[in-house]
Amino acid sequence: MNALEIISLSKSFGAQTALDNICLSVPTGSRTVIVGPSGSGKTTLLRMIAGFEFPDAGSLTLNGQTLVDSTHAVPAYQRQIGYVPQDGALFPHMTVADNIGFGLTETGSTRTERIQALMDSVALNANMAKRWPHELSGGQQQRVSLARALAQQPRLMLLDEPFSALDTGLRGAMRKMVARLLEDAGVTTILVTHDQSEALSFADQLAVMRDGRLVQSGHPMDLYRYPDDEQTARFLGEAVVMPAQIEAGWALCDLGRIPVNSNGFCGDAQIMLRPEQLRLSDADDAHTCNAVVTERDFGGNTCTLTVELHAPTQPACGRSLLVRSTGMHAPPAGSAVQLSVSGPAHVLSTS
Ligand SMILES: Nc1ncnc2c1ncn2[C@@H]1O[C@H](COP(=O)(O)OP(=O)(O)OP(=O)(O)O)[C@@H](O)[C@H]1O
Ligand SMILES: [Mg+2]
Repeated sequence: MNALEIISLSKSFGAQTALDNICLSVPTGSRTVIVGPSGSGKTTLLRMIAGFEFPDAGSLTLNGQTLVDSTHAVPAYQRQIGYVPQDGALFPHMTVADNIGFGLTETGSTRTERIQALMDSVALNANMAKRWPHELSGGQQQRVSLARALAQQPRLMLLDEPFSALDTGLRGAMRKMVARLLEDAGVTTILVTHDQSEALSFADQLAVMRDGRLVQSGHPMDLYRYPDDEQTARFLGEAVVMPAQIEAGWALCDLGRIPVNSNGFCGDAQIMLRPEQLRLSDADDAHTCNAVVTERDFGGNTCTLTVELHAPTQPACGRSLLVRSTGMHAPPAGSAVQLSVSGPAHVLSTS
């Protein structure tokens, strides 16, 4: 069952179209992640779901209840939706404990215990309870904001870049912890992020926005492997894109003749491979292609090589592409190598 239905939502600010006919279903208990470049409309969409913006057209329903349509709107405070805004938006005149306890009905020691448990759940030390928001780091403020939203036991949780102020290690740990917390509480969640690895790891459903439009949605693995277009492909990770001639499940390209997922398409197209589908191989492997390493980018456990292809059809085609290799054994720049392709390439849409 779908908790939230976003139906043909549009919104403009003057001449600026912020949302253009957005449609998306968010299943009950799921984690939906919205990604997209800056200015693509992510925050506007969350604010509309929370009830702080109103659409020019379209409607929203939550568990069958209409939140907003062309005739009426449920006020934000009656929606039972938790919202952690991009900047945390703590009340500056309240301590951490009072921010988290804002809206709790409990009093006395029950209230104190509840606040303590909420602080624990977002890894905030108990000695921070009496601090003021300006005495906290950006990441601590985000966690107070999250605890305040969790305190309301919302039907739906909206998180706008909630981990952006955290360092890489804490960010990964917080992401896992919050995912577990929300899952245990059975709270349907929509998270907005710029970070593609965060999006891919947190989401059950991933939605990509661009220029106010929702350009593709689905399971993160499907979007990573089968993006509709080159921009989406590159937004979700590194991509090797090249022209090819497609025929009967094969692509003829600078890598030779390689298998392709073409859904029956024949003719000229752009194909995409992820760098991890290309590997250095022995000359006697099937489907190899000659190349020369032009750059080696050492990243510890992996190494990204830029190689220049010497295609079978054109002895020095000069096409450069990325290949991953294990860090310790990666060949230096200038080495002649052989490449092989694992798994099929993907045909990008031509529009
Ligand atoms: N109140 C407003 N008045 C005028 N324009 C606005 C307003 N709010 C948003 N916009 C514009 O609408 C577009 C979408 O903005 P939004 O904040 O939703 O983007 P975003 O995807 O959240 O970006 P970011 O990743 O930078 O947070 C932008 O072009 C922005 O300038
Ligand atoms: Mg935003």
